[in-house]
Amino acid sequence: MSRLLVTGGAGFIGSNFIHYWIHRHPEDRLVVLDSLTYAGNPANLEAAAEHPSFRFVQGDIRDQELVEELLRREALETIVHLAAESHVDRSISGPDLFIDVNINGTHSLLKAARRVWLEGDKNAFPKPRFHHVSTDEVYGSLGPGDAAFTESTPYRPNSPYAASKAASDHLVRAYQHTYGLPTTISNCSNNYGPYQFPEKLIPLCIVNLLSGKTLPIYGDGQNVRDWLHVEDHCRGLELILKDGRIGEIYNIGSRNEQTNLDLVRLLCRSMDNLFAKRSELGDRYPEAPPSRGQLCEESLEFVTDRLGHDRRYAIDSSRLEGELGFGSTITFDRGMESTLLWYLDNEPWWRAVMDESYREWMTDQYGKSGSPPAGA
Ligand code: NAD
Ligand code: TYD
Repeated sequence: MSRLLVTGGAGFIGSNFIHYWIHRHPEDRLVVLDSLTYAGNPANLEAAAEHPSFRFVQGDIRDQELVEELLRREALETIVHLAAESHVDRSISGPDLFIDVNINGTHSLLKAARRVWLEGDKNAFPKPRFHHVSTDEVYGSLGPGDAAFTESTPYRPNSPYAASKAASDHLVRAYQHTYGLPTTISNCSNNYGPYQFPEKLIPLCIVNLLSGKTLPIYGDGQNVRDWLHVEDHCRGLELILKDGRIGEIYNIGSRNEQTNLDLVRLLCRSMDNLFAKRSELGDRYPEAPPSRGQLCEESLEFVTDRLGHDRRYAIDSSRLEGELGFGSTITFDRGMESTLLWYLDNEPWWRAVMDESYREWMTDQYGKSGSPPAGA
């Protein structure tokens, strides 16, 4: 039996990880530490709360004392570190919080792990592991013909978010090298799936369509991302937690590069098809384009580009595939359809998270209209 501390477990990837892990390893102890920012939602963990070996603790990763106490009291030998400020646009309008949470927060966790696992009763923690969940954005931006990022691609983070994640990766590496803290790092591409906060591209487009709003495409829509279903990310994390080499870095991706425009068009077609097949959707979502006799694509709107917008990410996950047998299992079409269905069937969830603080942020960002200005 393993005993895991999962930071950020009430967020998008964290809650999917918890569901995945309980299903696959029901005997393991799982303690979630999450401060419940706008992105953390206890409702994401409702199903897990029923499970006898699950515990939720509301708290901050920057609270070293709390983390030390949790590690000792719960005899936690694995940390899966997901807690972070994660949205690039927010890092552009307010970088300070990203520096504090992502860098100082990670450092605080590393200090706690070192103190308890390496300086305390070592016999109580015979096989500790600190796994740090990071992003492909630390590697910077690729040109159209460039080879995909490997684990030895030099770091060239461009946004404050990416820079804060890069700094946290370096700290994790340094704690391994200097103090011998047993760590692993994964750098993953863009995730999608259920429970993603509707500020990120895919859920934003889904809820905007259902609410009769436009689909804001930054710049020319030709920026490329490699999209991975969150369940496949969890599968990759599981492989690393079980057999990943200590001190190693693993890229996780799915060789599924899409331009933003193609992706949003695919989403539009899937939505049109679903409304055509299920007539009750028209009554439930009267504002959606198909309910008004329009195609979803008519809602596309090119808006002003994001500052410093990275052009292309592509990730080479050969190491994870070769060493640990990773392969993504959910095709993009199937993953997008199931994600779309999840949002269609969970309207109360997304309406609840798009609360006052979300609207305030959108207004702060874009003025009274609450949406980005039309682009050139
Ligand atoms: P998210 O924003 O949905 O969730 C972040 C969670 O962290 C929330 O539950 C929030 O309440 C919690 N949190 C924030 N600050 C905290 C603090 N100080 N103390 C405790 N908890 C805190 O993010 P996500 O998309 O689930 O991403 C999770 C991790 O995966 C992040 O580290 C992110 O950098 C990384 N990542 C995300 C993606 C992606 O596509 N979403 C891709 C690669 C890597
Ligand atoms: P996002 O989901 O914010 O993830 P990331 O910035 O971490 O890649 O954005 C994905 C892509 O979609 C990115 O190129 C920016 C673009 N985008 C839009 O075109 N419009 C939007 O409203 C948002 C949120 C993102």
